[in-house]
Amino acid sequence: MLRTTDLTKLYRTPAGVVPALTGVNATFERGKLTAIVGPSGSGKSTLLNLLAGFDLPTSGVVYLGDTSLGAMTERERSKLRLTRFGFVFQSFNLIAVLNAWQNVAFPMGLAGIAAPERRARALALLDRFGLRQRADHVPTRLSGGERQRVSLARALANDPDVVFADEPTGNLDSRSGQVVLGALREVAGEGRTVIVVTHDVGVAESADAVLELLDGHVTLARAAVPAARSEA
Ligand SMILES: Nc1ncnc2c1ncn2[C@@H]1O[C@H](COP(=O)(O)OP(=O)(O)OP(=O)(O)O)[C@@H](O)[C@H]1O
Ligand SMILES: [Mg+2]
Repeated sequence: MLRTTDLTKLYRTPAGVVPALTGVNATFERGKLTAIVGPSGSGKSTLLNLLAGFDLPTSGVVYLGDTSLGAMTERERSKLRLTRFGFVFQSFNLIAVLNAWQNVAFPMGLAGIAAPERRARALALLDRFGLRQRADHVPTRLSGGERQRVSLARALANDPDVVFADEPTGNLDSRSGQVVLGALREVAGEGRTVIVVTHDVGVAESADAVLELLDGHVTLARAAVPAARSEA
């Protein structure tokens, strides 16, 4: 569904050229949760930014299906992000003055969906994540786990093909993290491409596939088979 060919990103800084990614070839399949792992500075966020079209590579291509993101105009990429991509962030990034359903409805408004339909769809998404009773709460009246589930509902607002999550469990206790991970796995199970940058060993272990980066290179790309089972 989403793939890269020879993706390279060089950052030019006063101190010289930083090769953040060099020659990354990777495939992110539909219906699967792929974890991107690697130490700090290995290029994980750089890769996520390129996959989502927030930034353009120095060379190489990101393909969504047969479409090259780099061949589109900035306007087309914005529209693509709004309608085909969804995003979940470590710090939730909910809008403080909007309640839960209004946060979920926000990207629907940008995509031109009529107001009455926005509310109904937002409530259905919150219901799905067990948050129907929290629909009128502003983010400060929600727990961390609830906020992240609102973020996930918002990521699904426009029925995306790809969901990107950057450290989605990084600010959560382990139980809330488990719930969010379970929800992300369900989202993949619906046939979406789910891509999760994570330091969380639990997330990586339960991923369908893992891409490990080190110094901007792929050091491991595999379908995740638990070690115990592969040795059996
Ligand atoms: N805008 C930028 N300008 C210059 N260098 C950058 C920029 N963004 C990232 N880098 C450098 O590129 C490399 C990869 O950074 P990146 O943020 O992708 O790492 P990361 O794997 O996401 O790390 P972390 O786990 O700490 O979030 C690092 O050496 C970083 O310093
Ligand atoms: Mg990062």
